[in-house]
Amino acid sequence: MRKLTYFVACSIDGFIGDPGGDASSMLAFVDEEFFGFLTGEYPETLPTHGRRPLGIDDLPNKRFDTIIQGRASYDVALREGITSPYAHLREYVASRSLKESPDPHVEIIAEDLVGKVRELKAEEGGLGIYLCGGSQLAGELLGEIDELVIKTYPQVYGSGMPMFGSGFALTDFTLEAVRTFGNGVLVRTYARGR
Ligand SMILES: NC(=O)c1ccc[n+]([C@@H]2O[C@H](COP(=O)([O-])OP(=O)(O)OC[C@H]3O[C@@H](n4cnc5c(N)ncnc54)[C@H](OP(=O)(O)O)[C@@H]3O)[C@@H](O)[C@H]2O)c1
Repeated sequence: MRKLTYFVACSIDGFIGDPGGDASSMLAFVDEEFFGFLTGEYPETLPTHGRRPLGIDDLPNKRFDTIIQGRASYDVALREGITSPYAHLREYVASRSLKESPDPHVEIIAEDLVGKVRELKAEEGGLGIYLCGGSQLAGELLGEIDELVIKTYPQVYGSGMPMFGSGFALTDFTLEAVRTFGNGVLVRTYARGR
């Protein structure tokens, strides 16, 4: 059984980006210490095109071997002409509008999203599944999320894109770990409460 982990960056007030989803203000907090944490603990969450210039494209995957993104999140890379932003992972993009995949390495999930995720989670062995987001996809998959890894940056957005684009539904999680960084970034890990 593999875990589905929503690994996400957010503001103090829980937004994963501005109202359009842009979270680039958070990049300012990726200093040496935090970058060391990311590359040491979650190297596979850095996109392939970002890893190459940093000379870390040969770092082995540590936690995840599969990624799932919503089409709007995938579009961020696609707009820059990058069709396989996580080439070091098995890539799935949820979309009903993309009629064919822009890249042979990327599989489109058009139907039965939850069923497909359950199928991936039921696979034997291997590493976990990185739920990249965005908000809408995370909202639809909330019931399947086993773990949350929330990188909180010391900024208030006031309004913006919520972590889960879903209706009100109370779901319990158990705090498993907290890491704090010198620049005020906080990383909390939660397991789904059973
Ligand atoms: N801060 C962070 O860590 C973080 C992480 C990831 C993303 N983001 C940001 O989040 C923003 C995008 O989030 P978003 O909520 O607008 O969109 P999203 O969740 O990335 O994508 C939504 C799209 O996914 C597809 N989809 C959703 N449910 C589906 C289902 N059941 N079956 C098939 N396809 C399904 C649909 O694509 P079609 O319209 O093609 O059918 C839908 O329009 C971006 O701006 C990105 O930068 C931030």
